[in-house]
Amino acid sequence: MERTFVYLKPNAVRRGLVGEIIKRFEQRGIKIVALKLLWMSKQQAEKLYEMHKGKSFYNDLIDFVTGGPIVAMIVEAPRVIEMVRHIIGDTDPLKAGTGTIRGEFALTITKNLIHASDSKENFEREYKIFFSNNEIIDYYLDVQDDI
Ligand code: PPS
Repeated sequence: MERTFVYLKPNAVRRGLVGEIIKRFEQRGIKIVALKLLWMSKQQAEKLYEMHKGKSFYNDLIDFVTGGPIVAMIVEAPRVIEMVRHIIGDTDPLKAGTGTIRGEFALTITKNLIHASDSKENFEREYKIFFSNNEIIDYYLDVQDDI
């Protein structure tokens, strides 16, 4: 089993897409092991996106992700890092495949609705910005026996 960190960006919350997005993970058999609504602080955003500091889009990105509440979660499944990124689609909604979350609901790169860790190393770094280990719930999910 593998875990990844995902958060639904402020426009996903404002547009009422939280249920639609979570549904896509659940119907695929992906288990949610931590979940919360929060308002990302500037410090959290700067830490999350520290590798992009200095890039042309950095300031707009920080302002956008701190501009409203987000839904943060940790999910679990076999090969879930790759699986979630597949379900989400390319960073650029123009290149995101039909049927992906960004391919169906997003238009611009900055407002691409959702973020997911792209590696085990980044999952370990990113989830700790938003969750403490005692907020992760280990439990048995029957449907994972049948997928
Ligand atoms: S990069 O530039 O190749 O390292 O981009 P990437 O690793 O795909 O992640 C970039 C994150 O910054 C957000 N963002 C943008 N990227 C590129 N161009 C523009 N204009 C831009 N605006 C915002 C992009 O959504 C990625 O954030 P996350 O949260 O990972 O989706």
